[in-house]
Amino acid sequence: MPDNLRGMEEFATFVTHLECSATGEKYPADVVHGLSAAGKPLLVRYELAALGRAVSKEVLAARDGGFWKYREFLPVRKSENVVRLGEVATPLVELHAAARRAGAKRLLVKDEGRLPTGSFKARGLALAVAMGKELGVTRMAMPTNGNAGAALAAYAAAAGIETHVFCPADTPEINVREISLAGAHVTLVDGLINDCGRRVAEGCERMGWFDASTLKEPYRIEGKKTMGIELAEQLGWRLPDVIFYPTGGGTGLIAMWKAFDELEAIGFIDSKRPRMVAVQASGCAPIVRAWQQGAEHAEFWQDAHTYAAGIRVPAAIGDFLILRAVRASRGLAIAVDDTAIADALAEVAKSDGLLLCPEGAATYAAWKAALAAGQVSADEVTVLFNCASGLKYPLPAV
Ligand SMILES: Cc1ncc(COP(=O)(O)O)c(C=O)c1O
Repeated sequence: MPDNLRGMEEFATFVTHLECSATGEKYPADVVHGLSAAGKPLLVRYELAALGRAVSKEVLAARDGGFWKYREFLPVRKSENVVRLGEVATPLVELHAAARRAGAKRLLVKDEGRLPTGSFKARGLALAVAMGKELGVTRMAMPTNGNAGAALAAYAAAAGIETHVFCPADTPEINVREISLAGAHVTLVDGLINDCGRRVAEGCERMGWFDASTLKEPYRIEGKKTMGIELAEQLGWRLPDVIFYPTGGGTGLIAMWKAFDELEAIGFIDSKRPRMVAVQASGCAPIVRAWQQGAEHAEFWQDAHTYAAGIRVPAAIGDFLILRAVRASRGLAIAVDDTAIADALAEVAKSDGLLLCPEGAATYAAWKAALAAGQVSADEVTVLFNCASGLKYPLPAV
């Protein structure tokens, strides 16, 4: 066993049950689940007092192994079901020049592009695949705008699970090729991610595939939770004042919010929370519209378009969970257009040397807009999420 994985041979897990995020109805752990009977996402619940006794900040500080080091916060019971592809703790990169230009105190980018398959989807899909393996799933399917499909295909390939991936026909070419190279059966669909989702649902019914769509299976959110835990640890178990998150299905935002609650329950952090900012593209902004209208759910966004493929999600099954977290945090939802996104991407690359992906660039454009509008202030410590490597996207011509 390599040195950095020593002490990680066995998983202690504290899962008690699963719970419907809308009704609170309880479901047993250790069996395959999709949505709850109410058609809503299921959340994994833990025996937090025991979890808190089993892990300490010192123990975590001494561990390596990327997000798997937070194993007590995760549902996998047997280490033999874990697939590792070289996960790392993603760095917090300080945008010194951009902060200086804006007169801001501290602007950090959590650069998730350093993970296996070049995106944060590795966190969620590593967990979905490990749990699939643990529960005997042999064939998984999902709709994807690209990055999630790549992560599913890679982790499933290593786990020996067959995959069926449906992408909108205009998904970045590199993603489609990457998914296919990892052995997934890829279908290009003339439509958006929700049309792909329909194709997956049909296949699941006819072919018995397991539906790994975001929030339709309960474990991707647990993997994404590690973004929040890792961020807290990197900041000395304090949270930033504001988090800007590029929001499509919203899994990462919902998951970080869940992580913060669990960390507080075990006494790792206090009750102070960052303001959560959901960033969308103005060509596809259902959550922003619902937030502005004070609605509990977001209506379907017609004619969705943006070149930031990962946030082109016209309807999110976890809409109410995103909106709840944004409101509970006294945060906001903000849309930026594709020109602002492209300008932001070029600006940060030039001044700070960091190549963002379009979705990450959207968070920088949104931060500047929110700062100008007085919705955030220059003395707030701010973290932007760059959820994929900019190298996975077509780059502007020279
Ligand atoms: C690079 C990137 N950023 C953001 C998102 C949106 O993530 P979430 O589904 O957690 O809202 C995606 C999803 O595909 C993505 O690929």
